[in-house]
Amino acid sequence: MKRCKNTHFLLCLLLLSIVLTACTDAPTKYVIGVSQCSEDSWRAKLIDELQMATYFNEGVEVRFASANDNNEQQCHQIDSLVQSGIDLLIVSPNQVNAISTAIDRAYDSGIPVILFDRKTDSSKYTAFMGADNYVIGQMLAQYVVDKLGGKGNIVEIEGLEGSSPAIERHEGFKNLIDKYPDLHIVASASGDWTEQSGVKAMQRIMQQYSGRIDCIFGSNDRMAVGAKSVLHASENVLTIGIDALPDGGIQQVNTGVLDASAIYPTHGDELMQLALNILRGEKYPKESIMVSSLVTSDNARILLLQHEELVRQSANLSKMHGRVDRILDQLGMQEILLVTFFIVILIVCFSLAYIIRAYRQKHILHEQLEQQHSELRRQRDELAEQKEIAERQRDELEIERDKLIEARLVIDANPDVDASLKPRQDDLGGDVLTGDEKLYRQESVFIQRFVKVLDERIADCDLSVEDIGTELGFSRVQLYRKVKALTGKSPVEFVRERRLERAQQLLLDSTFNISEIAYKVGFSSPSYFTKCYKDLYGISPTSVRE
Ligand code: FRU
Repeated sequence: MKRCKNTHFLLCLLLLSIVLTACTDAPTKYVIGVSQCSEDSWRAKLIDELQMATYFNEGVEVRFASANDNNEQQCHQIDSLVQSGIDLLIVSPNQVNAISTAIDRAYDSGIPVILFDRKTDSSKYTAFMGADNYVIGQMLAQYVVDKLGGKGNIVEIEGLEGSSPAIERHEGFKNLIDKYPDLHIVASASGDWTEQSGVKAMQRIMQQYSGRIDCIFGSNDRMAVGAKSVLHASENVLTIGIDALPDGGIQQVNTGVLDASAIYPTHGDELMQLALNILRGEKYPKESIMVSSLVTSDNARILLLQHEELVRQSANLSKMHGRVDRILDQLGMQEILLVTFFIVILIVCFSLAYIIRAYRQKHILHEQLEQQHSELRRQRDELAEQKEIAERQRDELEIERDKLIEARLVIDANPDVDASLKPRQDDLGGDVLTGDEKLYRQESVFIQRFVKVLDERIADCDLSVEDIGTELGFSRVQLYRKVKALTGKSPVEFVRERRLERAQQLLLDSTFNISEIAYKVGFSSPSYFTKCYKDLYGISPTSVRE
């Protein structure tokens, strides 16, 4: 049971260490899924900005997916993002009505949805953020009106058919151009936002309008540049597009490839803020419209300089972020080390306490056992002593009984004798035997035999006076009388003294220790031997040895 408790304690420590270690990393609070309709430099910029925004918002994880202008793929990717457990979905739907079902599924499952840059035909979204493509179309049309003096032929390369920016940009542009009767959109073709699609569309148009074109309006810069590349180098055609990326449209305006472009803002930081406001339950606008602006040769250079400055700053920021990351990593590592060290110390302390406790318990048990042993030894000595006393008393009683029987016989034979005197006289057994004293003394042969029997079995602690008597052919009483008469001691005393004499010899002549000697001379306990020895010689066996 105790061992079980200890194991639990160690397990708790282990769990604590795991929990503490896990706590050293900031927990992810929000997972945001971003479904991009395609992959290009404009979207790469947006992804960079969103990624950068996570540096300032701890605990936000962004998962990106890009559908390569494929509706089916985008629907599938949205479903997968939802299944992966995102908390919010940001989506730029490839086309207005092709992605709605997947977006509706996400929205219906309770995930907030932000439509970014492009729209759908469904009302199931939480918020929209993007520029006003209709206004952008109008702004560029106005630029064309001004540049061409309200007169000329225009070719329009539209964006991907069915995508909301393509539709709105076209409508905004056309509605304003249509107000000028001398301005004509002579040809219009749909691209798919790529430069190559602009080239192809323009090749077809050129077959009919070569040499009669005053303006190319591309729904984005890439298509405009592609279309312009089909013209002869000598042809001076006003070319305009949309997006105005620093290393795209702005650069192209600056070098004269394009005449103008409209900034199509990405603003990933604002998009992240909108997402967090929704996730945190804070106030947010349903529609966030980002402002665009015209880029021409007048402002392209300054915009590029500003952009370079921005790039430098964000590079510094990235460097700083890298450094902060490294410092945080080191800190985390130190925390783990500290926690591990603390746990090891705890385990060591606990183990030490456990060992000390076990050692103490063992010591106490040992002492208790020792006490029980000495108590047992004392009781055994007492028993041995009592046995000896009992044997002596029995001898004495038996002698008394014999004397009384003899007295009885005398009384019976001489009725005149004073009965009270006769036994008393016999009581003095020694006196009765006094007459035979000489005879008894001659019986030293008997003593020799007695000693011989005793010496042969001196190491036997079970050897009793009866055993010796039996060997010598004497009854106990006879033996007692004889030994008493010859030595003045009872057989028990005689035997004990003989044993002690042998012990003394061994003490002086041998190297056996006290216990060994006690057993060798027939004592069953060394302590009782010591007591008897002291009683006889007035000195302890240990002192004799010393
Ligand atoms: C990028 C892009 C841009 C265009 C926008 C419209 O994927 O094609 O060039 O302005 O999408 O959504």
